[in-house]
Amino acid sequence: MTESPRPDLHVLVLAAGKGTRMRTRRPKLLHPLAGQPVIRHVLRTARALAPASLTLVVGYQADELRAALSDEPDLGFAVQEPQLGTGHAVLQGEQVLATATGTLLLLSGDVPLVRAASLRRLVDHHESSGAAATLMTAIVPRPFGYGRILRKDGAITRIVEERDATPEQRKVTEINSGLWAFTLDGLFEALREIGTNNDQREYYLTDLVQLHRKAGRAVETVRLDDPTEIRGINSQNELAEVAAIMRRARNDELMAAGVTLVDPDSAYIDVDVEIGPDTIVHPNVYLEGHTRVGSGCEIHSGTRIVNAEVGDGVLVRNHCVIEDARVADGAKVGPFAHLRPGSDVGAEAHVGNFVELKKTALGAGSKANHLTYLGDATIGEGVNVGAGTITCNYDGVRKHPTVIEDGAFIGSDVQLIAPVTVGRGAYVAAGSSITDDVPPGSLAIARGRQVNKDGWADRKK
Ligand code: UD1
Ligand code: CA
Repeated sequence: MTESPRPDLHVLVLAAGKGTRMRTRRPKLLHPLAGQPVIRHVLRTARALAPASLTLVVGYQADELRAALSDEPDLGFAVQEPQLGTGHAVLQGEQVLATATGTLLLLSGDVPLVRAASLRRLVDHHESSGAAATLMTAIVPRPFGYGRILRKDGAITRIVEERDATPEQRKVTEINSGLWAFTLDGLFEALREIGTNNDQREYYLTDLVQLHRKAGRAVETVRLDDPTEIRGINSQNELAEVAAIMRRARNDELMAAGVTLVDPDSAYIDVDVEIGPDTIVHPNVYLEGHTRVGSGCEIHSGTRIVNAEVGDGVLVRNHCVIEDARVADGAKVGPFAHLRPGSDVGAEAHVGNFVELKKTALGAGSKANHLTYLGDATIGEGVNVGAGTITCNYDGVRKHPTVIEDGAFIGSDVQLIAPVTVGRGAYVAAGSSITDDVPPGSLAIARGRQVNKDGWADRKK
C-alpha cells in the first residue's frame, strides 16, 4: 500500500552497527525473518510512505549488505567508518542529504515490526508541531536495555541509556524507540555538537534532546500504543521472538480471510505467501517465498513449499518438498513426493509416494504413483507411469529429454533412456529398458526372455 509521494520526506535507516550480540558471522540485518532478510522489512515499510529518498547507513560488513540489497531500486548508501555511535551514524547521512530539505525520518535496521501507519503519525505530528526533533516513545513492562525518557512537567528533558542511568532512572518505563523525525534544516550542525561523555565513549544521538532544548528548539514525542512494534533484534533470542510475532500477525490475517490453520503456532508461513479460503493447513507446514496456494486445498504435516504455485482443491499429503514448481487444480501429491524446480503437475494428476519430478510436466489426469524419477520429461494427459519408472536423462555430460504422449501406459520398472519418445496410446511392458522411440499405439517390450529350467532345484540338491 503506497501513498502519494512525499517530496519533503527523506528516510535514513541505520545499519552500520556490528550486531555483536547475535554471535554470528552473518550480518545481523541479513538474518532471514519470515522469508526476508531483517532489513528488507524495514525498507518495505519505509517505501510505503513514498519518500523522496531512502538511504542506508552502512559500515560493519557494508559490502555484504550492499550486495544483498543490490536489487533494491533507488536505495542510497552512506558509509560510517568507524562506527562511533548513533549520533555519528546519522551525521553520515550528510553524505547523501547535505542539500535536502524537509523532514528526515530515522529508522533502525533492526526494528522491523514498526507499521507504516505509526511512522506516518510520527512524521505528521512532527511537521504540524514545527519541532526540531520528534521522537517515538513507548511504555514497556521490561524497559531493560533501552534508553529511558526523562521528563519535567510533562516535557521531555533528556534520554538516558541503560548503562548510564541511575537505579532511580532505570525504573522509568517510557523508552526511546530509536525512531525519530527531524527537521533537516540545522540537523547536521546540531549533530556535530554531540560529544562522547558517556559510558561507551560514543556519540549518542539521544544527546540531541538536551542540545536542542538548550538552544531553545522544541523536541516533541509521539507515544506508540502497541510497544511490540518497536521490538528490536539484538540477539538470536529476540530474532526468534520477533519472527514469532510477525508469523502470528500474518497467520491471523490468513485466518481472518478464511484459511484454516490447525495450529497457527506451528504454521510457518512467510509474509508474502498467499492462500485462498477453505484451505486447511496442518501443523508443521512451511510455506515459503512467493508461494501461492489456491482455495479448498489441504496441506498435511511435514510439507515444505517454496516459491510454488498451487491451484484450487489440491491435496498435498504428508512430507512433501515442492520448490519452484506448479501444481494445478485438483492434483494429489505425496506423501513423500519431491517436486523440484520446473515441475508442472497438471489438473487432477497424481504424484504418489517416493516420486521425484525435475523440470517435468505431468499432464492433466496423469499418474505417477510410486517410486519414480521423472526428469526433463514432457508427459501428456491421461498417462499412467508404473511403479519404479526412471527417466535416464543424464549421460554423464548432458541432460536429455523424454517425451511420453497422451494416453500412453508405462509398465512398472521401466527405464526410459533419453532422448526417447513414447507415442500416443503406446504401451511399454514392465521391466523394459527403452532406448528407441516407441511408435504411437504400439507395444514395446525390451527385456531378457525368461527361461525356466525344469527340475533344476532338485538336481542342485
Ligand atoms: C539505541 C538508543 C536507545 C534506544 C534503542 C532502541 C542511542 C544512543 N540509544 O540503543 O536509546 O532505546 O536504540 O532500539 O541512540 N548504529 C550505527 N552506527 C553506530 C551505532 C549504531 O549504524 O555507530 C545502528 C545499529 O546498526 C542499529 C541502530 O543504530 O541499527 C541502533 O544501535 P544499537 O547499538 O542497537 O543501539 P541501542 O543500544 O539498541
Ligand atoms: Ca538496537
